[in-house]
Amino acid sequence: MSHHPQQLPNVTVPTLQLWKSQGRRIVMVTAYDAVTARLADPVVDVLLVGDSVGNVCLGFDNTLPVSVAMINHHLEAVARTKPRSLLVADMPFLSFHLGMDDTVRNAGGFMQRGAAAVKVEGGAKRCDVVRKLVDCEIPVMGHLGLTPQSVNVMGGFKVQGREATAAAKLLEDAVALEAAGCFSIVLEGIPTALAAEVTKALRIPTIGIGAGPQCSGQVLVLHDVLGLVQGHKAKFVRTYVDGYGVLQAALAQWAGDVREARFPSAAESYGAATPASAAPAG
Ligand code: KIV
Repeated sequence: MSHHPQQLPNVTVPTLQLWKSQGRRIVMVTAYDAVTARLADPVVDVLLVGDSVGNVCLGFDNTLPVSVAMINHHLEAVARTKPRSLLVADMPFLSFHLGMDDTVRNAGGFMQRGAAAVKVEGGAKRCDVVRKLVDCEIPVMGHLGLTPQSVNVMGGFKVQGREATAAAKLLEDAVALEAAGCFSIVLEGIPTALAAEVTKALRIPTIGIGAGPQCSGQVLVLHDVLGLVQGHKAKFVRTYVDGYGVLQAALAQWAGDVREARFPSAAESYGAATPASAAPAG
């Protein structure tokens, strides 16, 4: 099936609600800059400027050091591409913990930079934040399960909701977030059966990552799908190309051409000024 940008509609918050009712699956991927946004926008439905930019691109061990200023920087780059996908900005650690005014200012700043929604990690204890943002006309995507900003509380990146009480609490959290006004919820690192139960219990769509096939949609980090990162690969990641290998081999070819004086060729070089060469450089 071909994916031509012009054939695809602009995706909005109500679009996702409609798709859940129609059983149409939602595709979400991270984008942190204009290059990855342009690459992904024609083939996905939702672009997430995730705080995973911290560990994927900025060299941090986890997402905790990611600031509002960092998300602003990456969001602005993605927004400049004017994507047709729904553009969601992640609320990073400490951007919604220091009081409601600060939270609204941070989330509102993301909307003013081109986001169409924000994502907030956490369960029922975030309902006040969700209600306030929705009251300010800011659509909110929830995020439950293995929420990376809670890595220190969880004692590592561990699957959540495996025990009956934890599963019941997660279901309760999901229902509370929907009631507070979330338009969708990311379910990360939870058992398939629990994700299926949550998805069935809610009217709003769930978007899974390590949460099995029965969510309303799926999200992955773009760099994982394209094989651009080396090292540990989570069980839930499917990599479709050895991007690291392919791209490094191409770079090595160019480096070899430079070292062996095969680059640049005459065709890749400019001659001296002649009347005909007054045209702009191409
Ligand atoms: O920051 C991120 O990339 C995320 C997704 C993996 C859901 O939160």
